[in-house]
Amino acid sequence: MDGRDLVRSMKRVGPAGAGRGLRTVRAAWRRRRADAAGLPVRGPERARVPGLVQEVEPGPGGGTLRFSRSELSIRVAVNGAVFWGWDGAEPEPSYALAGRCPEPDPRAVLEPDKDGGWRVVAERVTVVVSRHGAVEVCTPGGVVLRRDLPPRWWEPQGGGPARWMQRSEVAADARFFGLGGRASGPRLRDGTYRLWNTDPGHAFDREDDPLYLTMPVQLVVADAGTHLVFHDTSWDGSVALREGEEGAGSGHDRAGGCEVRMDGGPLRCWVIVGTPARVLLAWASLTGAPALPPAWALGHHHARWGFGSEQEVRRIVAGYHEHGLPLDAVHLDIDHYDEHQVFTVDEDRFPKLSVLAEELRRDGIRLVSIIDPAVRATPGNAVYDSGVAEDAFVRDASGRLVEGVVWPGEAVFPDFTHARVRKWWGSLYAERLAQGFAGFWHDMNEPTSFAAFGESTLPRSARHSLEGRGGDHREAHNVYGLCMARAAYEGLLELVADQRPFVFSRSGWAGLQRYGGTWSGDVATGWPGLRASLSLVMGLGLCGVPYSGPDVGGFDGSPSPELYLRWFQLGAYLPLFRTHASLRAGRREPWEFGPEVLEHARVALVERRRLLPYFMTLAHLARRTGAPYVRPVWWGAPGNRALRDCEDAFLLGDCLLVAPVLGPGVDRRAVQLPRGRWYDTATGRAYEGPGQVLVDAPLSRIPVLARAGAVMPVRGDDGAVELEVWAPVRGRTGGGLVVRDAGDGWAEPEIERYVARWEGSRVVVEQEGEDGVRVPSHPVRVRGLGER
Ligand code: GLC
Repeated sequence: MDGRDLVRSMKRVGPAGAGRGLRTVRAAWRRRRADAAGLPVRGPERARVPGLVQEVEPGPGGGTLRFSRSELSIRVAVNGAVFWGWDGAEPEPSYALAGRCPEPDPRAVLEPDKDGGWRVVAERVTVVVSRHGAVEVCTPGGVVLRRDLPPRWWEPQGGGPARWMQRSEVAADARFFGLGGRASGPRLRDGTYRLWNTDPGHAFDREDDPLYLTMPVQLVVADAGTHLVFHDTSWDGSVALREGEEGAGSGHDRAGGCEVRMDGGPLRCWVIVGTPARVLLAWASLTGAPALPPAWALGHHHARWGFGSEQEVRRIVAGYHEHGLPLDAVHLDIDHYDEHQVFTVDEDRFPKLSVLAEELRRDGIRLVSIIDPAVRATPGNAVYDSGVAEDAFVRDASGRLVEGVVWPGEAVFPDFTHARVRKWWGSLYAERLAQGFAGFWHDMNEPTSFAAFGESTLPRSARHSLEGRGGDHREAHNVYGLCMARAAYEGLLELVADQRPFVFSRSGWAGLQRYGGTWSGDVATGWPGLRASLSLVMGLGLCGVPYSGPDVGGFDGSPSPELYLRWFQLGAYLPLFRTHASLRAGRREPWEFGPEVLEHARVALVERRRLLPYFMTLAHLARRTGAPYVRPVWWGAPGNRALRDCEDAFLLGDCLLVAPVLGPGVDRRAVQLPRGRWYDTATGRAYEGPGQVLVDAPLSRIPVLARAGAVMPVRGDDGAVELEVWAPVRGRTGGGLVVRDAGDGWAEPEIERYVARWEGSRVVVEQEGEDGVRVPSHPVRVRGLGER
């Protein structure tokens, strides 16, 4: 720990914790000593490459190639995804996979290729392996999407995990996306991106990297095709990206480059080739369908670090009511805990929490509780005592409990990589449910400890169960938040079997969507922060985690009324729509920024409520298809380069294109449209894509365009579902899917399919069924009729 870290940790712990400074330093030193003792010194290393291929052995879905110094097995799975692993690495065990590894596709066979190489030909992809161990992923037409050079390992001569490096080339025109939640995206520019979940310790901006939720998932989009590559290793690592350059005139192309380096763990990966929709479908079939949020979680949430008392919560809720602002959830931060200890309540300031929860619920507002993993290391603290009895906490190699410093002071950390510990932790949510909480907000679960040497997390030598295999924090760190989310999700399923759990988590890894969503963490208040928050939502969606959203208004400081409003307007179109801010930040209630902002914020809130049936449909579609609610504008046309480079707008499902205002003083903005006709939903004016158009963006709203032919469910004035239909272009038809579900249970609603077509001078909408078409049972409102 250097001086800066200490100041930072004392600032974060706040006045109550400042006195702990000395103890903090001592604890840090203790841990540093433990780290040095716990981890073997690497010593000299030997480098290795695969060498030449010696023999091959066909197997189901592909086969195994033996090189002089390594072996490679390739397997195409029935869902079209290709797995390959070096040095005997198998797909399992894996924290990313939702269940067992999918069956191999028996049609994919290993056959000889030219120059002594081999290839596996499958329906959607061909994998070509050179005799030196370079691996090419090609389209069925033979165009190379990715070329992995032979990998390289560095093995400690005295034994221990090998480090490895995998260099790849992609097309000169390729663009990179993903790697979890990155502030500088969504298009990932040249640079090195670390794979180590990190609390930056301050409100983050565009240049802060890494953040809380990283994952080795890249989505690469090029003219020749789209592919996703996932290096299934949870160890600390980095990905260096370099976009290629196309040669002008007679010049040569420079390929795009990617270099993945890992400090350990198997060298194995999954590659999926296809359209973006197909890629995300196969990715969700591998790593799990996104959990379905309860209907209320798609509404507006209001959070704040610093709701000091029940009265204050009531005052905020009353403010929403008085101003006619819809509200669906209130979040209680650590200040409602007794001395910041998770699973407790400060009974002086929150004496009747369950009564408050019940009152709010009658008003249609749910309470959500923050949950931090750190447990204060004090005998007598019930959670600590029960955790000790369960042997639930992370220990070091000598068997001592690993201590850190988090909000409650010196604390210990459950080892969520152990099934028994997850079960114990999951059972603790009973206390929260009894208090009346309906949802759970996981925080500080990178895990963060303020007082650590160098990094604000557990020492790398800390021991973890890793499902009984045993290992240390180097391997467990990145999956800590994922495993905590699993503990909560599975615990809640047992405690309230008839309700869909609502969990969202600051940290996580590939597969987090199975248990819930995430949010963008402590984003800095400022226009760059606004942009960063959109980047995170889009990037995470492309990595398979579709439910997320930022702290509207930013976490720290005080946004200008204009910035607050623009953030609010964007948030209204993101899956998690939540205002939140730090203890020391200015107010975030919509009425704190003057009457004009209040009026426009009300419009955004009312529109969000109107769109709830559409959001619910998107949630169901995400679960069934893996498609995120928020999609890049190139989703349906990845070959369109102008769309590929557009980072300031997004598609919300199939029907809407949202063009937020991301800078000050704007009243018009350019919007890059995909092919087809698009209506400005505020004015009804039609624009023709593809191409760039200028649309009005007055302070009162951000541009939202509807695709001609769209049929989308909205909430009518009486609360029932209506169909909003945007006239198709003459001579064309339109349509849409609707999943009606206003609840929080498990009933499986039907997917309703609608078509819209012209009949004379009218637009007719019909519901398609197995036995033909019929008149929809919902009222229909056709818009955009002014334009023919
Ligand atoms: C972390 C969280 C933030 C929360 C605060 C206090 O900074 O990211 O959302 O308000 O801790 O619990």
